[in-house]
Amino acid sequence: MQQTSNLPIGVFDSGMGGLTVLSALHSSLPQEHFIYLGDTARLPYGTKTRETVIKYAEQAASALVARGIKALVVACNTASGIALPALQKRFAPLPVYGVVEPGAIAAVHAASIAAIGTSVVVLATESTISSGAYQKAITKLAPQIRIFGRACPLWVTLAEMGNRDANLTRDILAHDIRGFLQKGPCVFLLGCTHFPVFSQALAEISSTVTVVDSAATTAAVVAEKLKTLNLLTNSLLKDNLLVDDLLSDAKQGQTLYLATDGAARFKQVGGQFLNCALDEVELVDL
Ligand code: DGL
Repeated sequence: MQQTSNLPIGVFDSGMGGLTVLSALHSSLPQEHFIYLGDTARLPYGTKTRETVIKYAEQAASALVARGIKALVVACNTASGIALPALQKRFAPLPVYGVVEPGAIAAVHAASIAAIGTSVVVLATESTISSGAYQKAITKLAPQIRIFGRACPLWVTLAEMGNRDANLTRDILAHDIRGFLQKGPCVFLLGCTHFPVFSQALAEISSTVTVVDSAATTAAVVAEKLKTLNLLTNSLLKDNLLVDDLLSDAKQGQTLYLATDGAARFKQVGGQFLNCALDEVELVDL
């Protein structure tokens, strides 16, 4: 039987956005295997009701759990903000990690090293903004920080269509953030995993703002937690000091990509999110 620590880590999002988190996970945990699921048939999650987001998140998670995973990363702010407790309860004792708390850590850190009085502007989906998840997570870490929220419903579609560099995209980004550029120093927190593809464009629209997202902090949290749980690949074997297993440390992990619709588009556009070409994408039904 396969060691639990050698099973893949499951990662899901409503679409390709979670690939920005997967990219950070690849960097932090290069030896791990991953199964990534993009629920492209039902995207966007960010305009759906709470009940629907929980149902979709549970179905996506179930599909990954059925393939055998050692941990689950909810690489979607909308699902993390709304469905994380339900997923943790339903799939216990499987470790389930979200992106909202790590995103809040990144924003608070950026604000703390910026000018005094720097506020945080959360740019996210409608559901994430109305859930108040980021407001709660940031206030818990730094109650003094002023927080603004802005729903950016068009951004997910623009990102998913691969329109990262279009002039119309820049106009929409500029329109949505313009009001905050007058409010004094601020950190823009990309509270949707689709949005990091716009980091460059946002920096060009305003060279004075700081833009952060949850990808790197999520990967750091996941790496730390899996280490504590002794769930890193080969970690159990390494403790037994088996030579073969030590040699296998050098091996690069594999990633399996699943999508519920549009596998060809996923493969073609996914590279913008992952920062490298994608392997084959398998079509699945939830
Ligand atoms: N990428 C997802 C998030 O982080 C949501 C996009 C959507 O489906 O609306 O919120």
